Amino acid sequence: LTQTLGDRSIVLVGFMGSGKTSTGRRLAQRLGLPFVDADVEIEAAAGMTIAEIFAKHGEPSFRDGERRVMARILEDGPRVIATGGGAFLNEETRARIAKRGVSVWLKADPEVLWRRVRKRSHRPLLQSPDPEKTLRTLLEQRYPHYARADVTVISRDGPHELAVEEIICAIE
Ligand code: S3P
Repeated sequence: LTQTLGDRSIVLVGFMGSGKTSTGRRLAQRLGLPFVDADVEIEAAAGMTIAEIFAKHGEPSFRDGERRVMARILEDGPRVIATGGGAFLNEETRARIAKRGVSVWLKADPEVLWRRVRKRSHRPLLQSPDPEKTLRTLLEQRYPHYARADVTVISRDGPHELAVEEIICAIE
């Protein structure tokens, strides 16, 4: 696999709650590659949490920061990168990922995603009177984008090892 990758990174994309961070961490361990979480990098660069960036500067400013952070973390590879759920919607970021990485969509049903994210209040995009409906609407808009990933893997409940092995098989 490391030969197939060369200096390209494995880039996990997909909706909030699809398991990008937890699966990414396991995958990185399994392959002996560094793991980078884009959300963490954005927070470090901004010196505040994502919720604070949204509240103080608004979503467009967050997206701009996200685009710049994605460009930076894609420069050096190979790595395993967990992206924020909206990163792959940006055309420039998608082009960079195509050049510098292999994209993997962790696909999950709306019911599964909702179950996983409902208890977490830190996601600014789901701060709405009807967050479940917001999730479904966002998901419908985003599916066609995520579907452009090089590889699609179903994100099931249970041990992350399953998804990790599926990703490795798909890329090899
Ligand atoms: C977002 C997803 C979040 C975070 C931000 C916006 C999105 O990342 O980047 O709240 O647009 O889907 P996770 O997918 O890691 O929760």
